[in-house]
Amino acid sequence: MPGFELFGDLERQQVNDVLDNGVLMRYGFDGMRNGHWKAKELEIELKNTLQSKHVQLVSSGTAAVSVALAAAGVGAGDEVIMPTFTFVASFEAIMMLGAIPILVDIDDTLTLSPKAVENAITPKTKAVMVVQMCGSMGNMDALQTICNKHNILLVEDACQAIGGTYNGRPLGSIGDLGCFSFDFVKTITCGEGGAVITNNKEYYTNADHYSDHGHDHVGNDRGAETHPFLGYNFRISELHAAVGLAQVKRLPEFIDIQKKNYTILREALSQIPEVTFRKVPDGGEESYAFLNFFLPDLETTLKVVDAFKVSGVDACWNYYSNNWHYLNKWDHLKDLKSLFPISTEVKEGLEYLKTKEFPESDHYIGRNISCLIKLSWTEAEVYERANKMVTAVKTVLET
Ligand SMILES: Cc1ncc(COP(=O)(O)O)c(C=O)c1O
Repeated sequence: MPGFELFGDLERQQVNDVLDNGVLMRYGFDGMRNGHWKAKELEIELKNTLQSKHVQLVSSGTAAVSVALAAAGVGAGDEVIMPTFTFVASFEAIMMLGAIPILVDIDDTLTLSPKAVENAITPKTKAVMVVQMCGSMGNMDALQTICNKHNILLVEDACQAIGGTYNGRPLGSIGDLGCFSFDFVKTITCGEGGAVITNNKEYYTNADHYSDHGHDHVGNDRGAETHPFLGYNFRISELHAAVGLAQVKRLPEFIDIQKKNYTILREALSQIPEVTFRKVPDGGEESYAFLNFFLPDLETTLKVVDAFKVSGVDACWNYYSNNWHYLNKWDHLKDLKSLFPISTEVKEGLEYLKTKEFPESDHYIGRNISCLIKLSWTEAEVYERANKMVTAVKTVLET
């Protein structure tokens, strides 16, 4: 998914615009800017791309998740349902607000199992956070129905899924709020950056103020602005926004390349009966950032990952024992290793993690291989890669 593979003159020109007028901050300094408002411009581009009424840029995807939850009023003691397979940022962002992450099983979509979500709802549940991992999505209709029934928020972490759609709508724009990351390894990058999107005016205003110390952004004298409520600094800089502005215009080109490369690899692997693919819900189209497939069992899967490495097929992972993406290795969360005291409410709320097992998640993540799709491969390289992958899988299956 890395937009960083393809940047050059367009990004340089946007960054130079900012350096030439010298205003690196997104707010204020109106007189010095010579009309350059890169963060504002990027927000407008993203509104169009993501078909959302409101976009608030922030400093990272992690910030986007925290700001989105805060904007909708999630806080101390509230429970937020999230999947066992995600990036550590999901529980970090929830815990930053004093809320409690409730991890539940995934299904063959590699994100929230609607049944597991339904079973985890309690009177304290404030939000369900579906993480659109590796460019694809959960069963959004089923998740939305559950959230409507229980009157809880549906938040989409679409940090890894820009460019994917569900029933023709961009991922991230389906729930009450959507979150994006533009860190260095995302489909489009700002270097570091993120965005919250929503069609709800109040959530947007909250996100706008909260991400800038609670400033109300009224008028053009920053020093005279009032603070309707407490906030923090999750601002993006003009330099980062400038890079993103060049990148967002290239998103369709990046998605086309990803799709082409993904399709060649998928068609090759489809010849092997033991290989099955991650389920994309009806009406969904992936962003093609990753190709995810399943093998019969964990042992075979680990052998195939090793065989890929030996044959020079890089960037393919089994996440079962991965420190960043699967709960098996999140001992710092289970043991509550925190630099500062954690509230009793959160400590008690996380007790379940010491004993709870997640057999469905183990079943899917144990057998999954997730292959990054790069933009810089030539067609010949993709075909060579496809051949090596097929040979490696067949060889492991035959031994
Ligand atoms: C699913 C998901 N959520 C959130 C994040 C956090 O994004 P950032 O690195 O911009 O803080 C990431 C980053 O990898 C991610 O993959």
